[in-house]
Amino acid sequence: MDLKEIREQAKEKLKGFCRVCPVCDGLACAGEVPGMGGVGTGRAFQENLKALARYKLNLRAIHAVREPILESELFGIKVSMPVFVAPITGTTYNMGGALTEEQYALAVVEGSRLAGTLAFTGDGADPTMYGSGLKAIQKEHGQGIPVIKPRAQEEIIKRIKEAEEVGAIAVGMDIDGAGLLTMALKGQPVSPKTFTEIKELVDSTTLPFILKGIMTPDEAELAVEAGVKAIVVSNHGGRVLDETPGAAEVLPEIAARVKGKVTILADGGVRSGVDVLKLLALGADGVLIGRPLIVAAFGGGALGVKVYLEKIAKELREAMLLTGVATVKGVPATVIWKG
Ligand SMILES: Cc1cc2nc3c(=O)[nH]c(=O)nc-3n(C[C@H](O)[C@H](O)[C@H](O)COP(=O)(O)O)c2cc1C
Repeated sequence: MDLKEIREQAKEKLKGFCRVCPVCDGLACAGEVPGMGGVGTGRAFQENLKALARYKLNLRAIHAVREPILESELFGIKVSMPVFVAPITGTTYNMGGALTEEQYALAVVEGSRLAGTLAFTGDGADPTMYGSGLKAIQKEHGQGIPVIKPRAQEEIIKRIKEAEEVGAIAVGMDIDGAGLLTMALKGQPVSPKTFTEIKELVDSTTLPFILKGIMTPDEAELAVEAGVKAIVVSNHGGRVLDETPGAAEVLPEIAARVKGKVTILADGGVRSGVDVLKLLALGADGVLIGRPLIVAAFGGGALGVKVYLEKIAKELREAMLLTGVATVKGVPATVIWKG
């Protein structure tokens, strides 16, 4: 199964919900939330790609790098590359329902394992969402990371315990989901959290706790202070607040403040191995990919996910070779052309 076949299949399966554009850039689907787009004008989604595109790479070929090392780790788990599947839910209302939540979660968790890396799974108003992710993670012996919505504290702690029970390697919260009306409408309110509340969640578990949806250096520092083990610099794929900058835009100032104190992950608009290299050079320790993996999972299941992730690995390897980067651990900022 190749990427062309996967995309053709996905076009059928996602009909009416995703156009499977040549480049997934948020233009055709602007405002389609529910759906695959960005909220409002759609510009926050588009800005993720634009921000990445503003950075250019320095081509270097006078050096001794021959076999760039992509292997990395997350919380002590070895991975084939620091690229992970982003948490995604809502297969019926966002993607048309050709895959159930459970089938989708299985496809990404299994597919990422086949590619030697890890998937995050999500949470939503329907209980099958969080539960499907947990089921898939349990099936893959804990090799996955569930991400919980910023619900009431006791509801989050309950779900953290469930994550512990299936042996998940870590657990997270997408704090940027704090304004989601869909959750409130279904009687499961979400809200922003105070520093003390975040600390309570961190202290409630021995699992590494991840905070997803950090977009400013001050909040990154608060996360560190609360004992969070990893942050995800992310505007939620532009789906929660219109007119937010791209993740690649804010990443350098966040990294300047907290690099080395917390694992820095980032997502939004990553579409190639070159994009991965850019985010690593801008200060990320790892990168998440969202929508292209929806296309991969709908178009080819776990195998589709594997094929897509392997494409990214190949591109990353080539980009490292031609920028003189020996290993993904510590990609120098000098990879980025300053103009
Ligand atoms: C349809 C859809 C559903 C999503 N569901 C979740 C979710 O349940 N939890 C979460 O933390 N993020 C969710 N996200 C955000 C992604 O995890 C990720 O931050 C974003 O998609 C990255 O941008 P990209 O799609 O441009 O790669 C969702 C995104 C999309 C497109």
